[in-house]
Amino acid sequence: MTIKITAICGSVRPENATSKALSLVLDELATHADVEVTPVYLEELDLPLPGLPARDPEALERFQQSVADATGVILAAPEYHGGVSSPMKLAIDNLGFPSVLAGKPVALLGVAAGGIGAIKSLEQLRGICAHVGAHVLPLAVSVARVHLAFDEHGVCVDEAVEQQVRGAGTALVDYIRGAICPRVHMEALARGIDLTSPERVDRAPTVPGRNTHASFDDARAEFERAWNEPGRTRIEPDAVDVNALLARSDAVDGDVRLTGQTLWDAEVAKAWDPGTYIPGVVLEGESWGRRTLPDGTPWFVRSSRQVAWRADGDPGVVIEEVYLDPAGRSVLFFGRAAWIGPDGEPVEAGEHQPLFHVEHAVSGTEDQPLNRWRIVHLTESEDPALIERQRSHGSADWLAPFLAKFIEVELDGTTEAIAAEQPVGR
Ligand SMILES: Cc1cc2nc3c(=O)[nH]c(=O)nc-3n(C[C@H](O)[C@H](O)[C@H](O)COP(=O)(O)O)c2cc1C
Repeated sequence: MTIKITAICGSVRPENATSKALSLVLDELATHADVEVTPVYLEELDLPLPGLPARDPEALERFQQSVADATGVILAAPEYHGGVSSPMKLAIDNLGFPSVLAGKPVALLGVAAGGIGAIKSLEQLRGICAHVGAHVLPLAVSVARVHLAFDEHGVCVDEAVEQQVRGAGTALVDYIRGAICPRVHMEALARGIDLTSPERVDRAPTVPGRNTHASFDDARAEFERAWNEPGRTRIEPDAVDVNALLARSDAVDGDVRLTGQTLWDAEVAKAWDPGTYIPGVVLEGESWGRRTLPDGTPWFVRSSRQVAWRADGDPGVVIEEVYLDPAGRSVLFFGRAAWIGPDGEPVEAGEHQPLFHVEHAVSGTEDQPLNRWRIVHLTESEDPALIERQRSHGSADWLAPFLAKFIEVELDGTTEAIAAEQPVGR
């Protein structure tokens, strides 16, 4: 198992002493063949103050992902005014709420110009890390009079200090080897997961709440890539005029017309809670991990037992990442093989059918909205049975009952309510 370590330098001052100490740790970790290190220098990230928009959302996402993917983390920080440096605190504040540091083993390294070392800042850092749920290693390394320990070229001139600082890296690796690796291997053994299969490992995130894409544009790019890949089974039925459908359907009484906004609200409600709105398709399910991505995209994961797409298939578990674009009124669902469930335990999709991605969208006008959808099954070669099934079993079969259910649940089943603006609070 590769041990991934993210090492964050908490000083951005030119020629700072913290990075000199950290480079000893990096040097030490480079001697371990099974350890991969990602050093993070905060002056390269331009992190936002909490609450302000990210100036470089991709850099922020990469930073968060690096910590989320890490087996362990090293925080190297200077002591400023008797406390933890503001860059280090800002870095931690940018790791999400809940934090991706939660559950990670963390080694602390502090440096200070003063004779008592970085005792105060390390204590603060320990408290902050514990607060966000990290497992802080018991012994923190504190370097006093750090300006005397390194020469002008950044070379450590104090052998005792050098040993102590290198020890921060080895302590973390030893802890991971002793406490984390056996657990991961035991779990994999128990669940029959092949840890050497890159596909299986890549598809199963190690931290709940992590999204594959940082923005809706990136998610759309994945959908279009899948759509255009050779061998996939693509289905794109004609757009459905929902008001014309409702007018000829028995599912709804009276002259009911939906606006484009109401149709979108129905899509949002169904995405989160498909068991309520399309019980004929989704037999049971739950959604979790809802968060807003840096570009404003609402995102969550859902797991549900769904009827199979093939007529002869049994129902099975479908795990989907969901990305919503309220401005474009489009939802993208990405079938995933495995995920971390709401309780932190792995969940796996059924193998009863290939994974598939779906887009549901609202187009047309406010008065005459259209329901559009596309599905791409991730088949090795196009499957005519799936296409035939769609042809004989059109969207009208489930669309009218779904809209009727939404009207009943969210709009009190009344025409008046439909005419009014009805934002759906999800
Ligand atoms: C704003 C600021 C406050 C500081 N406060 C302290 C302090 O309270 N105690 C101390 O020992 N050193 C203090 N120092 C000195 C740093 O510990 C010293 O610069 C050391 O090199 C580590 O910081 P660096 O990694 O940014 O170089 C302070 C330095 C700065 C820039």
